[in-house]
Amino acid sequence: MIPLPLSTVAELTGGTVTGLPPDGPEPVVRGPVVIDSREAVPGALFAALPGERADGHDFAPAAFAGGASAVLAARPVDGPAVVVPDVQEALGLLARGVLARLPDAVVTGVTGSAGKTSTKDLIAQVVERAGPTIAPVGSFNNEIGLPLTALRADEGTRHLVLEMGARGIGHIAYLCGIARPAIGVVLNVGSAHLGEFGSREAVAQAKGEMVEALPASGTAVLNADDPLVAAMASRTEAQVVTFGRGPDATVRAVDEDLDEAGRGRFTLVTPEGEAKVALRLAGAHMVPNALAAAAVARAAGMGVADVADALSAAGPRSRWRMEVTDRPDGVTVINDAYNANPESTRAALDVLAHLARGRRAFAVLGEMAELGDTSVAEHAKIGQHVARSGVAGLVVVGDAAAPVAEGAAQVAAWTGELVQVDDVGAAVTALSGRLRPHDVVLVKGSRVAGLERVAAALLPEAAGPDGAAPDAPAGGARA
Ligand SMILES: Nc1ncnc2c1ncn2[C@@H]1O[C@H](COP(=O)(O)OP(=O)(O)OP(=O)(O)O)[C@@H](O)[C@H]1O
Ligand SMILES: [Mg+2]
Repeated sequence: MIPLPLSTVAELTGGTVTGLPPDGPEPVVRGPVVIDSREAVPGALFAALPGERADGHDFAPAAFAGGASAVLAARPVDGPAVVVPDVQEALGLLARGVLARLPDAVVTGVTGSAGKTSTKDLIAQVVERAGPTIAPVGSFNNEIGLPLTALRADEGTRHLVLEMGARGIGHIAYLCGIARPAIGVVLNVGSAHLGEFGSREAVAQAKGEMVEALPASGTAVLNADDPLVAAMASRTEAQVVTFGRGPDATVRAVDEDLDEAGRGRFTLVTPEGEAKVALRLAGAHMVPNALAAAAVARAAGMGVADVADALSAAGPRSRWRMEVTDRPDGVTVINDAYNANPESTRAALDVLAHLARGRRAFAVLGEMAELGDTSVAEHAKIGQHVARSGVAGLVVVGDAAAPVAEGAAQVAAWTGELVQVDDVGAAVTALSGRLRPHDVVLVKGSRVAGLERVAAALLPEAAGPDGAAPDAPAGGARA
């Protein structure tokens, strides 16, 4: 973060400075800006947000004890503060004000129904070869996580890669008002949060706010293979660059295949030249994500050879998305338990089928949340898909996922075993009695299903330190 005297924080947020000692020097905020008082260090600004269980203002003393210079607050606290009408809104205003002072930082925004974090992580690992880059680990894609990330930028920052999520119309426009992208990526329009949006057209309307926010000098990066995304070209003044597998895309993949571990390999073709890419991430669905990253890097001035090299070196940065781990007994676990919707579940099942050639496959599936009216039908379709793929075992976890079991049971030709359990513990028990060396297991469900705990039980050494969500974005999930 760039250092800001408290009076400047007040100016940028429309707030009032309170709680200054009578004749001490004016505090200077040097960052980071934190919303958890335990993360306060000397120079930090602690934003006191109302939480679900607690009020951030109660933690102001803890933040000061940690060294915080000041608090961004809705009412005076016992120490230096900038008092604003709405702390969350003020975070956005502060980030906007800071970015206005950093004209050399190129903002890239990434939105879409599925793959935002995966793509953001790829973009960051490519453009950081061209200059200092700020990008969050995990999602951080909402009205709190996005400004917190943007506020990490300083004079040295050349690339700021931001994920932008939405639960409704106007959300992306709001985020673009905080950090206006020069490069805006729309990945796809799918069924994530369809329940809230009502229709795919409404999802497209919301995601397209990204390209509407771009300046005429900017670049819209659009998926040529997704008609609702390609149609967004008419909603922007910016230059349009497309990516995809078809012959008409500006940046495309040809000669694509998957290696034995399910990782995409392809020739990256651009107007300037081509180069071979071998991804380190499993799943054919990572190929369009990589193409989007290549289109961003190209817009940022990188050459095709550098881009291909960086994509081939890029690893997973955010947890529980297609983490493929081999156990000592040869069992392969695919932990894709961060979230789930029909598109990403099919993509993950494709990887399972690919890895399982000649081996027994197990799918452990939980609920795909927030699908609205289509929920039962979509779960049933996934069940049919799993059964047709010929898995040896399907473990359906929780009541909300029950239609998956019903769908699978309708496939008469399927000879695998169907197991329905109530919870994670029962799923682990069911698996441990069935798994044999060299089997392949996919674990997949929405965040509420918490199936990463199944993966953790199957892979004790690889589990995270405390089992906590590594990147649950403050303020709720968005697509
Ligand atoms: N292009 C894609 N198409 C379909 N599924 C994808 C794609 N890219 C990633 N996925 C899968 O979607 C799931 C979520 O991926 P990721 O976290 O990157 O998406 P996200 O859009 O950031 O999600 P969220 O809305 O929760 O922030 C993972 O299972 C991942 O493997
Ligand atoms: Mg995300």
